[in-house]
Amino acid sequence: MTSKELDYRNKLIMAPMVRVGTLPMRLLALEFGADLVYTEELIDYKLMKCKKVFNKVLNTVDFVDESEGDNVVFRTCEKEKEKVILQIGTADAGRALKAAKLVEDHVSGIDVNMGCPKEFSVKGGMGAALAANMDNAKKILTTLVNGLSIPVSCKIRIRKTVEETIQHVKELESTGIKAIGIHGRNRDERPQNKPHPEVIKAVVESDIKIPIICNGGSKDFIEKYQDINQFKELCGASSIMIARAAEWNVSILRKEGMLPIMDVIKMYLKLAVDYDSVATNTKYCVQNMLRELQDSVMGKKFLEAQLMEQICDVFDMKDYCKQKQLEYQKKEMEIRLEKKK
Ligand code: FNR
Repeated sequence: MTSKELDYRNKLIMAPMVRVGTLPMRLLALEFGADLVYTEELIDYKLMKCKKVFNKVLNTVDFVDESEGDNVVFRTCEKEKEKVILQIGTADAGRALKAAKLVEDHVSGIDVNMGCPKEFSVKGGMGAALAANMDNAKKILTTLVNGLSIPVSCKIRIRKTVEETIQHVKELESTGIKAIGIHGRNRDERPQNKPHPEVIKAVVESDIKIPIICNGGSKDFIEKYQDINQFKELCGASSIMIARAAEWNVSILRKEGMLPIMDVIKMYLKLAVDYDSVATNTKYCVQNMLRELQDSVMGKKFLEAQLMEQICDVFDMKDYCKQKQLEYQKKEMEIRLEKKK
């Protein structure tokens, strides 16, 4: 049923990252030069029970879980609409379609996580468990491809051998998906193990026709922008997705060169304030950017901060945060009054 197209070739992509790939980080990645950005993995049953709300204060579209105190499960805006791919965690074709249908008009593509080896995913039949259940994996993808007007892709890990990996990709390709992301580690390998770009290369050089997005180079291969191309070449792929290197300093995606982390944190915080992100999520992301700087005096002050205003204060942005929060409160009041008229 796909009617909208998305070119997955020659793309620099921010990979899906739970808790990291929320709206402020996605917008910053796009500002720095990402062509496409993935959301964090959103679990189908969580997403499908959300209510779609047009947030007039922020100019965003929010998918809100009313049963959990109006928790925003997914927030997006017009700025990223043509470039955002929502990743679903699922073990059930019906649920996956229901969740994807809810967001279909607001994202450019749907990706299915078929690589996550974490216990939470695998126990629920999601992520890497789908590699061992090809019938279900294909059913999920076929259902999405047939039921959605936007392209569908999936993200996997390599298998134990090159031959198995190629066969695996071939089967997934047969469902009509438009691209496949391949993390060059198998399900038993941890992030600290060296990835296998040569396996991804063998897939690219096989008779698979859909674009392959290579992944897994952050720690061992990618320290600066130029390294991105080198890893891509090792994998023979035209598109690449980056996770940890972007988590640590998202300006790695910047062609003109990486920016100092303190500048990046400030840019990130501005977006987090502008899009009213929750403090716990913001803190988590900043913490991953600070890394060893957490041991400094500034870092210790940061670790104690809990409220958005306190986090911003550490980076001399308290006034900006307060001013924006007041602006939003005022706007909210005006909207409420308007509604009453
Ligand atoms: C991840 N990864 C991941 N993968 C996925 O398919 N869905 C997800 O939600 C997440 N979440 C996530 C969170 C964090 C904090 C990290 C570091 C990683 C895996 C990620 O997308 C990628 O496949 C690996 O990190 C390997 O790529 P890099 O880090 O070498 O570029």
